[in-house]
Amino acid sequence: MSNQFIFKPKHFEPVPGEFKWSAPSNIALVKYWGKKELQIPQNPSLSFTLSHCKTTTSLYFEPKEVDDSFSFEVYYEGVLKEDFYPKIDAFLKRIEIYVPFIKHLSLKIDTSNTFPHSSGIASSASGMSALALCIMSIERLLDKEMSSEYFYQKASFLSRLGSGSACRSIEGPIVSWGMHESINDSSDLYGSKFDESVHPVFQDFQDTILLIDKGQKQVSSTLGHNLMFNHPYATQRFSQAHENITILKAIFKSGNLSDFIALVESEALTLHAMMMTSFPYFILMKPNTLAVINKVWEFRNQTGLNLCFTLDAGANIHLLYPKSEAKETLMFIQNELISYCENKQFIIDEMGDGALEH
Ligand code: DP6
Repeated sequence: MSNQFIFKPKHFEPVPGEFKWSAPSNIALVKYWGKKELQIPQNPSLSFTLSHCKTTTSLYFEPKEVDDSFSFEVYYEGVLKEDFYPKIDAFLKRIEIYVPFIKHLSLKIDTSNTFPHSSGIASSASGMSALALCIMSIERLLDKEMSSEYFYQKASFLSRLGSGSACRSIEGPIVSWGMHESINDSSDLYGSKFDESVHPVFQDFQDTILLIDKGQKQVSSTLGHNLMFNHPYATQRFSQAHENITILKAIFKSGNLSDFIALVESEALTLHAMMMTSFPYFILMKPNTLAVINKVWEFRNQTGLNLCFTLDAGANIHLLYPKSEAKETLMFIQNELISYCENKQFIIDEMGDGALEH
């Protein structure tokens, strides 16, 4: 199925070198929740790529004798991180068939995030995509004729094998992932830049992230996705995601912000409703999450401004709003919402164009 991404060396002579990429986080509007083996999604999803929340990764490599194990070291902000090993080792094992040259290299991975460590913001999307891009840069060294389309597609494909949503962190500002009847060339294997018409109001959308609860994730994403097996509402949910992408496509074209708000908030609450109605069940929102949601609704009623929220699989809130309304909205956030955040922490971000090589 994924044979198109298997590297077939023409002339393969590993050399030492270094690549450095930064890749952003992304926020899903239509959520990926439910997967088959190897992060094949149960439904298509669509996200805004962010700009400031990102991971920067340097990958140093040098030739080594081929043996059975991978040779790598992982540093986070310059400090050796042995607890990252199992995740990276599992990732390398999964991608080895597509990038066999990694077995011929000794790797040093040096990574850092722009957002605070253990802020409750998942770093797997930005982290896996930054690493996948560094690995693709090595492949391009070995295959100089590679097209840039193939480069980005395979980077997205590899990062998906690390973490599903990571495949939407390569390009920007809007990315879809998963087969969808009305999106050309959509694939379950990698994310694609959303190339349909987009109204100017969506071109520089803002995302202010409220850090409501910075604790460890209560439910790991793999466990969470697995809750969709035998879930009483799974079939309806997966077909709803398809419909919502069709609706969102029309909203992007028309620029209708009240329809956008209704769709995005409904998607966020549906994601949480899925978790509340699975076995075992979870409530991942905190009292402050609900307090903020009510405040947002009050603000919208009073001002008519277009502020809405979305959620990931946790208590933190992403506040989405058009740039033209940023001044009043940020004033409201700062005056009325920051007190609900842990240590008053929040991050001002916006849509971005995807990963960058340094
Ligand atoms: C709720 O991509 O973290 O953020 O594929 O198991 O690594 P794995 O899951 P992950 O799931 C993200 C789920 C979500 C919704 C979304 O981003 O679409």
